[in-house]
Amino acid sequence: MQWYEIMPLDDLWIGEMLGVEAEGVKVLLINVEGTVQAYLDRCPHQASALSEGNFEGLTLTCVTHLWEFNVLTGRGINPESSKLIRFPVRIENGMIYVEVPEAGDIA
Ligand code: FES
Repeated sequence: MQWYEIMPLDDLWIGEMLGVEAEGVKVLLINVEGTVQAYLDRCPHQASALSEGNFEGLTLTCVTHLWEFNVLTGRGINPESSKLIRFPVRIENGMIYVEVPEAGDIA
C-alpha cells in the first residue's frame, strides 16, 4: 500500500464523482456531503467502471445492470451481499491523497 497525491480538494465538488488512476489502479473518488471517499473503480458484478454510473444522495448506481451501493459505507444496497473495495483517503494542504495497493494485489 502506498499513498498517492491525486488532485486538489477544490476540484472535486460536493456531490461530484470522478474516475482517476494511481499507479495503474483505477480509483473512484466521490465527495459525499463534504467527505471524500475512494473506492476501486470497478463494479463487483462484472467490472464496469463505477465512475460512469449515477450518483444521487448516498446511492451510486452502476450503469451496466443497475446494482446499487451506499457511497458512505461501500456496502451493497441491491444486492445487499455486494461490497465495494474501499481505499483510505486523507486531505493535506488542500490536496486529496489516496492509499492504494499495487495493481497486482487487488483481487
Ligand atoms: Fe455493475 Fe453489472 S457490472 S451492475
